[in-house]
Amino acid sequence: MSKFKTIDDLDVSGKRVLLRADLNVPMQDGKPSDTTRIDRTVPTINELTKRGAKVIILTHFGRPNGQVVPDLTLKPVAVAMASALGRDVAFATDTIGDSANAVVGAMKDGDVAMLENVRFHAGETANDDAFASSLAALGDIFVNDAFSTAHRAHASTEALARKLPAAAGRLMQAELEALGAALGTPVKPVAAVVGGAKVSTKMEVLGNLSKKVDMIIIGGGMANTFLYAQGHDVGISLCEKDMAEEAKKIIASAAENGCEIVLPVDVVVASEFAANAENETVSIDAIPSDKMALDIGPASIADVEKRLASCKTLVWNGPFGAFEIEPFDVGTNSAAQAAARLTKAGSLTSVAGGGDTVAALIQAGAADDFSYISTAGGAFLEWIEGKTLPGVAALED
Ligand code: 3PG
Repeated sequence: MSKFKTIDDLDVSGKRVLLRADLNVPMQDGKPSDTTRIDRTVPTINELTKRGAKVIILTHFGRPNGQVVPDLTLKPVAVAMASALGRDVAFATDTIGDSANAVVGAMKDGDVAMLENVRFHAGETANDDAFASSLAALGDIFVNDAFSTAHRAHASTEALARKLPAAAGRLMQAELEALGAALGTPVKPVAAVVGGAKVSTKMEVLGNLSKKVDMIIIGGGMANTFLYAQGHDVGISLCEKDMAEEAKKIIASAAENGCEIVLPVDVVVASEFAANAENETVSIDAIPSDKMALDIGPASIADVEKRLASCKTLVWNGPFGAFEIEPFDVGTNSAAQAAARLTKAGSLTSVAGGGDTVAALIQAGAADDFSYISTAGGAFLEWIEGKTLPGVAALED
C-alpha cells in the first residue's frame, strides 16, 4: 500500500489548513440531492477544527472549463456543508485574490470557510504552478480528502501537495485503506461487475480488468454492444455499433487471460424508455427489432447470482439495467441483494464505487451490507486498474 502521511502526523493547531475535498455532488433545484460526499468529509473537518485549525475547503463542481459559470457556484454546497457541520461556513466568491484573502484573513482558530469553485480558474485543470502557488499562499498545511478526484493531476490535487506540508484526510485514508485491504491482494476467484451505458467510456477499464479478475459480468447498455458484436440483433437498444470490433477484442484478450466475459442470456424489452412501459422477457436471440433491452431477465439474474456465490471478491461499478425506472430495476436490485447477502454471510468481500452504482445499491437496500462503498467513480476504476493516482502519489512519503 502507498505510504502517505495522515493528519495524525501534523500539528494543525492555529494553522490554516487547505482541505481539498470532492464536493462534486448531484444537484437538483439548486440543492445537493445526495450529500454522501459532504457527509463523508465532515469527520475530517470536525477533527481539524477541534484540534484548533482554521479549515479552508477547496473543491470543484462540474466542468466549467476555466470560466466563471454562475450555475456552477459552490454557494449551495457551502450552505449544505454548514448544515451537515451544524455551524457557519464562510464563503469566498473567488478561489484566490481579494475575496479569498479577506475570508481567510478573518478566520479564527476552529473556523471553517469554503472558497469558490477551483475550476473557475484555468490553472486548476492545467496543474499550473502559479495557480497552485496562489492557493498555497492561503494556507500553512495541505490536507487532501478528495480520493474521488485523485485521478486528476490538477493544481489543487497535485501541485499544491508539493508546495506545503501535506497529508491525507480521514476520508482519503479510509478509501485507500479499505480498497487496499479488499483488493490489494484479493482472495480469488474475483468477479467484476461493470455496467453502464457505454462501452466506449469503459474500454480501458475492461481491458485492464480482464488481466486481473476471473470474470467480468457486463451489465447495462454496454452489454448490448457485446451482444451485437456476437451477432445478436439488439433491436432499438442502446448500442455502440462502431465499438463492436473493440468489444470482440476484449472478449478475445479476456479469454487469453483466463477471464470469462459474462453477458445476459435473456433481457426485458420495451418499446420506450419509460417507467412501467409495457414489457416482456425474451431470450437474447429473440429481441424484437422495434424494442429495446432495459434490464436483464430472470435467467440472467439467476446466472449472475450463481456466479457471485462462486466468488470470494467482488468489485462493482455500474448498474445492470435502467434501475432508475420501475420495473427495470429488478436485475440491479436482485444482483445487489445477492452480493449483500453473500457479504453478510462472510463468503464474499464486496467493494463498489461510482455515483450511479452507489445510488443503485442504496435503492436496492444493499449498500449497508457491502464490505466497502467508495465515494469515487473514475478514481475508483483507475485504482482497481492499478494505475497511479496523481493526487495519491503527491501525498506519498
Ligand atoms: C467525480 O465526480 O467523479 C469527481 O469529482 C471527478 O470529476 P471530473 O470527472 O469532472 O474530474
